[in-house]
Amino acid sequence: MSVSASSITVGDKNVELPVKSGTIGPNVVDIGKLYGQTGAFTFDPGFTSTASCESSITYIDGDEGVLLYRGYPIEQLAEQGDFLETAYLMLFGELPTPAQKADFDYRVTRHTMVHDQMNRFFQGFRRDAHPMAIMVACVGALSAFYHDSTDISDENQRMIASLRMIAKMPTLAAMAYKYSIGQPFVYPKNDLDYTSNFLRMCFAVPCEEFQVNPIYARALDKIFILHADHEQNASTSTVRLAGSSGANPFACIAAGIACLWGPAHGGANEAALKMLMEIGTPDNVAKYVAKAKDKNDPFRLMGFGHRVYKNYDPRARIMQKTTHEVLKELNIKDDLLEVAVQLEKIALEDEYFIEKKLYPNIDFYSGITLKALGFPTSMFTVLFAVARTTGWIAQWAEMIQDPAQKIGRPRQLYVGPAQREYVAIGQRD
Ligand code: CMC
Repeated sequence: MSVSASSITVGDKNVELPVKSGTIGPNVVDIGKLYGQTGAFTFDPGFTSTASCESSITYIDGDEGVLLYRGYPIEQLAEQGDFLETAYLMLFGELPTPAQKADFDYRVTRHTMVHDQMNRFFQGFRRDAHPMAIMVACVGALSAFYHDSTDISDENQRMIASLRMIAKMPTLAAMAYKYSIGQPFVYPKNDLDYTSNFLRMCFAVPCEEFQVNPIYARALDKIFILHADHEQNASTSTVRLAGSSGANPFACIAAGIACLWGPAHGGANEAALKMLMEIGTPDNVAKYVAKAKDKNDPFRLMGFGHRVYKNYDPRARIMQKTTHEVLKELNIKDDLLEVAVQLEKIALEDEYFIEKKLYPNIDFYSGITLKALGFPTSMFTVLFAVARTTGWIAQWAEMIQDPAQKIGRPRQLYVGPAQREYVAIGQRD
């Protein structure tokens, strides 16, 4: 890392601020001493110009449409690797050797069961509860079941908590789904790979044999790789902020799941599919594009636009290809795919979308694939959470080990009333 300097004058005070460079990507101006030396804060709602930490996990070049995990392009990982390999890469920084991979797979697989009392915990939810509501609660509750991995100062406990979460998320997600449709829970079967095991827990029933379709498993594994991490997005920043106070990792990941649920973040895949259903047929596309452009209409094209990508989201390209492959191989003709293709075509040629650099993001196509695999829309964000758990945990672990780490505590620009005197209730008009 190289450091140079920049200076800023606030009122009559001039301070030198170090400018730091990372391996690649924009430089950062280190403003850590600004308040102490000038009495002024910086103001950046939505953190559009603010780097909150140093990280060596994920790199995004939003203008070029590049996404790297630990330096490896997402396209190569998605086409050539599997999800647990990506999880290993996230946690340890390097791709595993065959022996390391076998050991990691074994360790994750041995943690797939959840404490049996979790079954009773589920009974407290209404049947129509959104599975994301169940996930927030159940993942938070893991800290009540696994006390032996909540001491964050113990490296070994941190690793066990990490493996537990990667292993148990699919089990909890499948349980949330089974509960919502009134079917019995299906226990994990540890001779299956991670994603096949998850599909079996979701779609098998105890009264019949179940064979996992390898096309489904490969497609979902790819979706998991694509969603594994995405730098300092809202849910990851939430995990880091929660963790900065020293909270246990299960509680931090539950906070991340809560943040992911929103429609501007992980909820967008559900919203994108609902939008495609609402549009219904390719002839309606132009009408909805006009609505999206209308300043007086709150409607937005779900699955379009991104805070960081001002180019085609590289994950969307892979997702688009996977969607076509899955539908073709399964011989499914989905009208929604036609709507999506038409919508993408019209929007990409439209001046409004070109000028604002609004391109399809990963959520635009993922919903169609997940629907083809048999998942209801309410499960889409849950699947995102299963995958993103690896990124959240890697980011959380990186933060805990960062010597510069402090409790996250943003400041504010106060615009409320200045100090005033309390008036007794009987004397108020
Ligand atoms: N449809 C129509 N107009 C849009 C859209 C859209 N999807 N997205 C942004 N715009 C317009 C917006 O109205 C604004 O116009 P103006 O400058 O005239 O006011 C301009 O583009 C910039 O938008 P913004 O909201 O200031 O940009 P942002 O960086 O704060 O928001 C976003 C990024 C992803 C929240 C937004 O593009 C959006 O709401 N997209 C739809 C939801 C979506 O697909 N979210 C998934 C994100 S990818 C998965 C993930 O990371 O979780």
